[in-house]
Amino acid sequence: MELAEKIIRLKKARNAVILAHNYQIPDVQDIADYVGDSLGLSMQASRTKADVIVFCGVYFMAETAKILSPDKIVLIPDRKAGCPMADMITAEDLRRLKAGHRGAKTLCYVNTTAEVKAECDVCCTSGNAERIVRGAFNKDEEIIFAPDQYLAQYISKKVGREFIMWKGYCPTHLKILPEDIDRERRLHHVAEIIVHPECRSSVTDMADEVLSTEGMYRYVTETDGKEFIIGTETGILHRLRKANPDKMFYPLCERAVCPNMKLTTLEKVLWSLEDMKDEVIVPEETIAKARKSLEIMLNH
Ligand code: 13P
Ligand code: SF4
Repeated sequence: MELAEKIIRLKKARNAVILAHNYQIPDVQDIADYVGDSLGLSMQASRTKADVIVFCGVYFMAETAKILSPDKIVLIPDRKAGCPMADMITAEDLRRLKAGHRGAKTLCYVNTTAEVKAECDVCCTSGNAERIVRGAFNKDEEIIFAPDQYLAQYISKKVGREFIMWKGYCPTHLKILPEDIDRERRLHHVAEIIVHPECRSSVTDMADEVLSTEGMYRYVTETDGKEFIIGTETGILHRLRKANPDKMFYPLCERAVCPNMKLTTLEKVLWSLEDMKDEVIVPEETIAKARKSLEIMLNH
């Protein structure tokens, strides 16, 4: 029996759902019940009727699923799949920053650990950050925005508001450079350039569109344009091409590969379901606190 077939059988037997991020390898995306961005995956996790969630992504995403569905068993096929950006700020770091800015509200990108989420007032993803800043805070409130300095800078320009920022970044998106835009524009001059807000500001400033991964999927699927240069982790190209066989997609930068996102394989998904491992555990007290900031996000 093929690996994929074994996974499907076992998934039914365990009443499991497989959630996969847009950066997962093609085989894993193809076996998933739902493929999406951090926001879409959080929404799926909060609504699922399954008993088990197999989370194919990075650890903070699986933790988010556990926080939103504490009664479910959440499995991660490779627990070493971390996110270096999420590890750039600890709960202690955030407590210290808050102590230096009494009265400020805290907005955390979903790329944070459960302990950090437990310390913040509101969460956001790259797909809803602008809406959350506009809708969840008063105009005169000071906002600490952590940990991604580039997402914070991009949203700051959009909403015309200063933030107290943490200097975190995504090492994968930082590999995308302005010179990549110059080169790809010369090669494909009719193509639209779409980049992720985790890219450095000199890159987002040059792009035609700045969108979350799901925003990219929606945009290229709905627009009449036929050629796109995609400035994010290259794993998303599989989904874009599969859904739009009549359109052309070029990676803005071949170096933009997140090694952690590539740790999940079909074999590991199968083993995870066979052995019910590794289970993602978050202490109840952390869940209770972190859930508040995620719920504010999901209710906006
Ligand atoms: P999205 O929410 O846009 O999928 O981004 C998540 C992420 O980790 C990007 O690096
Ligand atoms: Fe983290 Fe960057 Fe990988 Fe996204 S692409 S999971 S932000 S390291």
